[in-house]
Amino acid sequence: MQRTLIIDALSAEKAQQEIMICGWARTRRDAKGFSFLEINDGSCLANLQCIVDEGTEAHAALGEANTGAALTVTGALVPSPGKGQKWEVRAKSIRVFGLADPQTFPLQKKRHSDEFLRTIAHLRSRTNKYGAAFRIRSEAGWAVHDFFRQEGFAWVHTPVLTGSDCEGAGEMFRVTTLAPGEKSLEEDFFSRRCNLTVSGQLEAEALALGLGRVYTFGPTFRAENSNTPRHAAEFWMIEPEMAFADLTDLMELAESLTRHVIGHVLEHCQADVRLFDAFVDKGLLARLQGLLAKPFARIPYAEAIRILEDSDRAFAFPVTFGMDLQTEHERYLAEEHFQRPVIVYDYPKEIKAFYMRCNDDNETVAAMDMLVPRIGELIGGSQREERLDRLCERIREMGQNPEDYWWYLDLRRFGSAPHAGFGLGFERLLMLLTGITNIRDVIPFPRTPGNLEF
Ligand code: 4AD
Ligand code: MG
Repeated sequence: MQRTLIIDALSAEKAQQEIMICGWARTRRDAKGFSFLEINDGSCLANLQCIVDEGTEAHAALGEANTGAALTVTGALVPSPGKGQKWEVRAKSIRVFGLADPQTFPLQKKRHSDEFLRTIAHLRSRTNKYGAAFRIRSEAGWAVHDFFRQEGFAWVHTPVLTGSDCEGAGEMFRVTTLAPGEKSLEEDFFSRRCNLTVSGQLEAEALALGLGRVYTFGPTFRAENSNTPRHAAEFWMIEPEMAFADLTDLMELAESLTRHVIGHVLEHCQADVRLFDAFVDKGLLARLQGLLAKPFARIPYAEAIRILEDSDRAFAFPVTFGMDLQTEHERYLAEEHFQRPVIVYDYPKEIKAFYMRCNDDNETVAAMDMLVPRIGELIGGSQREERLDRLCERIREMGQNPEDYWWYLDLRRFGSAPHAGFGLGFERLLMLLTGITNIRDVIPFPRTPGNLEF
């Protein structure tokens, strides 16, 4: 028999003779003459209520099954006389697959702390909150693909194993087949250093300069030893790269992508977003709707510094021209000053990566960061330096050898074109969409310093 998802059963137009649902019992209540089961199958936030009459085969099959048990219920979908749901199932037959011992099953009805649930990440997708978070994660991912497809971008897959350090920040995980003590790089698998990618950008640039518009959407690794609520050692990044585009085109793209995903999630994940609005972050829904109502702000870095200097806030990191913005500054700008996302552009070249295009003032680069309320930096990107001589100069200034970048420089030697791209941290976007304040809670199995369970 065909299985029906609870999301479809609950939105049925009319009663049905017989359906089969498969899921986990959230609760069981025994009343006089029958038992109530609340079943959740992960397809939506809502449970489907099942009535199991005493003295039936179904009731016998239910046995001792209780909270946490995996089971299949077959029966009629009928209008529910109870409040809160339109439909319920009158069980005709039940098959219990796996029981969950109430003495040891950790997810009993009470509410658990996020910290505790992180220690049982393998079970937490069976709670309302994490089920909702991971459904939103999925839907937001589809929205990203939808957006780029509509805009004519090709989805490209850049390598996870790489010999280059895109960001030049040296926060890379090394990959080796050498045993500890074996020292010669020659004997290593690739006969050279290999790292997990910190960004697919350099390869995405190569592909953009052939396919025109591309994006990557995949895992990224950074060995930053920063135990913050916004950094993970493994996270997903979305990196579009456009040929024949400048910084203004890039800001347009960043804003429209962000709006598209927010709009899509508001439309397609209503119940899940409402859960977060009610229990995790009161005001979330209004805030998300507010984000769509107004255009994002755009200001040059120099103006951002002026705003910060003129504020009467005592920042932990004092504000000076030339400094990198800290989270407290980013949040002040987005949350308090503008009260909406703000794109800051034209940063001093000293604090940005070598590949960013130098502006005519020779002091700043055509970089942009999108800062959003409650999170800070959501997106970082730039127009790329497409002039061979300027790029070589920057590589030498970093104390590196241009020859090591031969293929990246070839892109400037042969048919170079202005191009631009950015990286959007997918988990940070999910934090914005759910109001969840710790990145560990928007990733099913988060990796952070010292944490590699599961
Ligand atoms: O600003 P970042 O370092 O930019 C780059 O990697 C560029 N190569 C991207 C490009 O132009 N193609 O990182 C981009 C975004 C950040 O704005 C942030 O949202 C996210 O990636 N991010 C992290 N998210 C979670 N955990 C971390 N450790 C992150 N580091 C960066
Ligand atoms: Mg950045």
